[in-house]
Amino acid sequence: MFLCPASDVPLNGCKRHARGRAGALALFNLDGRFLALDDRCSHGDASLSGGDIDDGVIFCPLHAGGFDIASGAPVHPPCDEPVRAYTVVERDGGLWLESDPEH
Ligand code: FES
Repeated sequence: MFLCPASDVPLNGCKRHARGRAGALALFNLDGRFLALDDRCSHGDASLSGGDIDDGVIFCPLHAGGFDIASGAPVHPPCDEPVRAYTVVERDGGLWLESDPEH
């Protein structure tokens, strides 16, 4: 599934990518490595793409819970449930979701 041009995701930043009923993704560019998580925080109704990134962790803008961007694992309270992580492939200047069996 094509997501967007790689250049749309700022270096060491994040971009929200809407997918309709499938829910939005938070796309990350960590030193040129592209990663994706479900954009919705597992702790509440917040968009992770609006949070701050520090050392491979995205901090939720609502209660500052943290998730490892590579795995989606919770690494900072109050979050204790993971968010889903996806494999993103960069090809021909674009970003693609490698596999998304649920959608
Ligand atoms: S909603 Fe994200 S930490 Fe609470």
